[in-house]
Amino acid sequence: MALKTLAPAMMKKVLFLASLMLAASAHAQNVVGNAAEGAKLVATCQGCHNMGGGYRSSFPEIFAVPMINGQNAQYIVDALKEYKNGNRRFPTMRAIAASLTDQQMADIAAYYATAKGQPIK
Ligand code: HEC
Repeated sequence: MALKTLAPAMMKKVLFLASLMLAASAHAQNVVGNAAEGAKLVATCQGCHNMGGGYRSSFPEIFAVPMINGQNAQYIVDALKEYKNGNRRFPTMRAIAASLTDQQMADIAAYYATAKGQPIK
């Protein structure tokens, strides 16, 4: 009799704990970007990504810099992660991305996704 009444209760507890753990790990992967926080992090990026009409840095003879204003947020996060893990090899971007946390990447992506297509002077 004890078994019959205990088992469902234990099952519920186990399921509840399992759902908590799932929720926690889902949360860790779905970092939500905050554009206002991102705006504080992009000072270094602007010098390269926002000059000379957006597609060139201040050193057009050295870099052709992709326009990232208005770029899809997920694309930006993916690109930064690829620089960080070495799948993309541009050295400067790799060094920069390596210093960013997932949260900072999401914040920066949220900022650039809503940024206007015009270069900032
Ligand atoms: C020294 C100049 C420089 C700085 C500073 C810089 N970038 Fe870049 N970034 C580049 C160049 C050049 C590329 C293209 C590299 C390549 O060919 O892979 C690039 C590529 C990227 C890409 C991929 C764009 C695409 O269309 O595939 C993203 C996203 C990006 N940078 C974000 C950032 C962010 C965010 C910062 C600031 C935290 C930053 N960059 C700082 C020069 C720079």
